[in-house]
Amino acid sequence: MKIIKVKNYDELSIEASKIVANLLKQKEDACLGLATGGTPIGMYQNLIKMYRDGEISFRNIKTYNLDEYCDLDQNHSQSYYSYMHEHLFNNIDISKDNIHIPEGNSGNNEEACRKFNELLNQSTIDLQVLGIGGNGHIGFNEPGTPFNQETFVVELTDKTRNDNKRFFDSIEEVPRYAITMGIKNIVQAKKILLLASGLGKAEAVARLINGEISEGFPASILKRHDNVIVIIDEEAALLL
Ligand code: F6R
Repeated sequence: MKIIKVKNYDELSIEASKIVANLLKQKEDACLGLATGGTPIGMYQNLIKMYRDGEISFRNIKTYNLDEYCDLDQNHSQSYYSYMHEHLFNNIDISKDNIHIPEGNSGNNEEACRKFNELLNQSTIDLQVLGIGGNGHIGFNEPGTPFNQETFVVELTDKTRNDNKRFFDSIEEVPRYAITMGIKNIVQAKKILLLASGLGKAEAVARLINGEISEGFPASILKRHDNVIVIIDEEAALLL
């Protein structure tokens, strides 16, 4: 893993957006794997600015999102569908047909997983953007998920639901299930960019970099991938 240390969240967002933008400049029909959550918002903002300045275009880009909550209306303000449209898709020239987000509210989650997994297996993701959970999750692959897991319905841990309750009015409203790319899907990407910012990620970052590879800490699988960039800011690097 290549580790890039930066001062703070703003620098992390700039570095991350440069990596994505460079890919888009080299390959105008690149395939991006995208994450939601608090961490990539600054990166998306920079990418929108670069698009508005005429530096990059998403016209022929395909995107695949890591995950989506189950049983939450697509148009609910906290669905990942809404998040992606608000923070990126509504502000760039991507073709709606090229956006792929697991369907968490289709009424048949198993079928939605099968369809999404089939799509993933028909494509090659050039660059997968990841955040990291405090417990080492990537996508919604919680500790204990087998490394050979493909797209599936996951029951979210209390830790993850608690971490995400800041986006909802109460903990009861945080969905209990989600559809997520499995670890096997994630590591099939040609290149992976993991972003971690803030003190809340310091323990996870230390375990990612210094710990063993184990299914108990899902992000540790990234050490077996030969093209991973990890960008961390000073707070996230505190325990290194
Ligand atoms: C988001 C995702 C999650 C987040 C992780 C970190 O699509 O799959 O793994 O990347 O929970 O979230 P933040 O960035 O909010 O700390």
